[in-house]
Amino acid sequence: MCGIVGYIGGREATEVVLNGLQRLEYRGYDSAGIAIYHPDAGLQLRRSVGKLINLQQRVQADPPRGRVGIGHTRWATHGGVTEQNAHPHRDASGTIVVIQNGIVENYLSLKGRLIELGYQFESQTDTEVIAKLIGHYYQEQRDLVAATRQALQELRGGNAVVAFCIHEPDTLVAARLGNAGGIAIGLGDNEQFIASDIPAILDYTRNLIFLEDHDIAVVRRDEVTITRLDGTPVTRAVHSIAWDPVAAAKGDYRHFMHKEIDEQPRALMDVLRGRIDQERGLITLEDLRLDDQDLRRVRRIYAIACGTAWHAALVAKFMIENLARVRVEVDYASEFRYRQPILQSNGERDALILTFTQSGETVDTLAGMEEARRQGVPSVAIVNAIGSQAARLADGGPIYLHAGPEIGVASTKAFTSMLVAGYLFALRLAQAHGTLTPAQIREHIQALVELPGKAAQVIEQVTPVCVELAERYYRVGNALFLGRQINYPIALEGALKLKEISYIHAEGYPAGEMKHGPIALIDEGMPVVCIATRDHIYEKMISNVEQVRARHGQVIAIGHEGDELLAAKANHFIGVPATLPLLQPVLNVIPLQIFAYHVAVLRGCDVDQPRNLAKSVTVE
Ligand code: AGP
Repeated sequence: MCGIVGYIGGREATEVVLNGLQRLEYRGYDSAGIAIYHPDAGLQLRRSVGKLINLQQRVQADPPRGRVGIGHTRWATHGGVTEQNAHPHRDASGTIVVIQNGIVENYLSLKGRLIELGYQFESQTDTEVIAKLIGHYYQEQRDLVAATRQALQELRGGNAVVAFCIHEPDTLVAARLGNAGGIAIGLGDNEQFIASDIPAILDYTRNLIFLEDHDIAVVRRDEVTITRLDGTPVTRAVHSIAWDPVAAAKGDYRHFMHKEIDEQPRALMDVLRGRIDQERGLITLEDLRLDDQDLRRVRRIYAIACGTAWHAALVAKFMIENLARVRVEVDYASEFRYRQPILQSNGERDALILTFTQSGETVDTLAGMEEARRQGVPSVAIVNAIGSQAARLADGGPIYLHAGPEIGVASTKAFTSMLVAGYLFALRLAQAHGTLTPAQIREHIQALVELPGKAAQVIEQVTPVCVELAERYYRVGNALFLGRQINYPIALEGALKLKEISYIHAEGYPAGEMKHGPIALIDEGMPVVCIATRDHIYEKMISNVEQVRARHGQVIAIGHEGDELLAAKANHFIGVPATLPLLQPVLNVIPLQIFAYHVAVLRGCDVDQPRNLAKSVTVE
């Protein structure tokens, strides 16, 4: 997805920046650009759509000179794939350039305000809003750091930003807001590097500083100064990165699973890229080979998957049925393939197979797709691994998650990305069926763009309480997870996470079913995780919480932050921000992942490679 590179020092900046962008090509992008400064040549901007080679050819034809510069690979969110929308973007005076990773959630209102002040825009991007805003404050302050600081304080959402101004040619300013995009600063000898992802600069330095949320760095040839966004000075440790590529990929983390949990805000943003048009209320799924007419024909969907991906399919059923009013049946792929499913009846060609798979290589899921093909039913695959078997088999096209490699056997970021991909598919179907107007779709898009920021908030806020709960409960032998409706699959997922990495026996149950059996298990030693964010079934869920408490079970409640009623009824309360009810599972599952992770660590388990499990299950 988007990549950021910056350089200041004694080398030709163009070379360093382009080399860095090339190292980030694996992340995927649709356009690229650089801005290089030289006192005689001024600010030299080169941008191209398509592959980096196009930009490289443009640069060769007219090479920019200079020892300071920034570069970016863009994966479109706001506005199409055009040269004007490629980064870097300029302020109104053309003296400040900005590159950004992330989504500015309130860009429409900021843009409206700037237009009222007389600013004109050359692109449809949210990045240009940042550039214009920094430029606006620079007019008053004549200080790039101060202007950037003031502008960033007005942005909502997770963002990584780098800015340069020709009036301060010895300085690059880099900042990180939230967890949706990282910034690493590579320390050299009288030169410094900036990158969104470390492979971009590992050719030049192994000594890196990682900015934390709300850090802003002033990067000069001979020094790097970091402050908080409010100006308070801070010191960040310098990390030395080993040569081993796996260790490099794991960075500072002890386990991939932990890293992948933390990567979720970024993954949630990447799954949206290029697919949402906030202004027109439109969803585009670039690889989908079904047009509006094909989608309108779809009246029945068979969703098939395994394990965690099956839980994603269960959630997607609620999304699709609710938004597009199309019926969805969910099957375990391993059962589906042997149950002789009747996919088409009376010669109607109105069915679709929708598969969910991280690896795209799960043999049961592939067999289900083959069965669909045999019966002449088209299939669409929501899949992470690019070019995998499932992506190739899906004649209706893949919907890629773009979540990046998931190494930990326990699926985390692929799961939440699958939920968002399922939501996008539901909206795309609703668009074709006309069950939602563009204005309604716009509201859903707004909720989607706010989701990565909320996920980052969840990770930050709930980690301390999850660690505390893990310390309290890691010795138990059993645990129960309860949820209802769209949160029932989240209860299943919470239980699966715990059992697969900590080997604690855990069951997920629809809370209303508890009284028909599992209630017999409840005593004072049994932790019962109850997912009870406010929705149409909230009061019923509260009754279920009371039933557990009456049997002395230990209730760990997941609810909306500030829910005092639930907090008072539970033994332990974990608050998460609210979003649309159909998107709430994305946030609700995160504390369950974090809890399972810390329990497994305390039990001394092999978190990333639990016993008997494989990442891709390519056998029956
Ligand atoms: C999840 O944590 C599991 N390890 C497992 O259930 C997994 O989701 C399942 O095997 C399906 O894999 P897939 O998404 O690659 O098809």
